[in-house]
Amino acid sequence: MVFSDGLNLIPGGKDMASKLKVLLSQEEIKEKVRYLAELVSRDYQGKAPLLICVLKGAVVFLSDLIRNLEIPVEVDFMAVSSYGNSTITSGVVRILKDLETGIDNKDILIVEDIIDTGLTLSYLKENLLSRNPRSLKIITLLDKPERRVVDIEPDYCGFCIPDEFVVGYGLDFNEKYRNLPDICILLEFQ
Ligand code: IMP
Ligand code: MG
Repeated sequence: MVFSDGLNLIPGGKDMASKLKVLLSQEEIKEKVRYLAELVSRDYQGKAPLLICVLKGAVVFLSDLIRNLEIPVEVDFMAVSSYGNSTITSGVVRILKDLETGIDNKDILIVEDIIDTGLTLSYLKENLLSRNPRSLKIITLLDKPERRVVDIEPDYCGFCIPDEFVVGYGLDFNEKYRNLPDICILLEFQ
């Protein structure tokens, strides 16, 4: 079984579908996002955190998450890119798009799609901490703990997944597959 639906969403159609295997179905994701939203709503009761979405992969997760929250929130976006090529992460991160406002005295929740080596998030965390937020936590939908090279853990995590390259639900390979409703393992790269 490869796809629950939406073969027409895949670049290359049916042929490409054979190169994708569903790891997490849209139903499983939906249930998990609801659960995470419950935890966040409970922990931030009486507060109005600023959710910082790391572009672009986390936008789908963010948009589902905030619609399940029962607390007021603000939203802002950051875009970062790591120096070096796409397969070897250097840990030196360039900010392509910064926040619109200061975060002094705000409760910050960084929203990530996936933590892999942890280098990007580690840089981002230090950078944001230097701006004196009241608190700073991390929520990620996916975590690949086997791949970690720096000591960083999310405060909330949807799923721990094996060391496979996944796409869909916001995650891409060369900017493709972000619109798939399921999270799939990419079996062949081309
Ligand atoms: P890190 O600095 O190695 O933790 O890099 C994390 C970033 O790499 C994520 O925010 C994703 O953009 C990207 N990434 C890591 N693993 C995957 C994957 O399996 N699929 C798609 N993107 C990934
Ligand atoms: Mg990301």
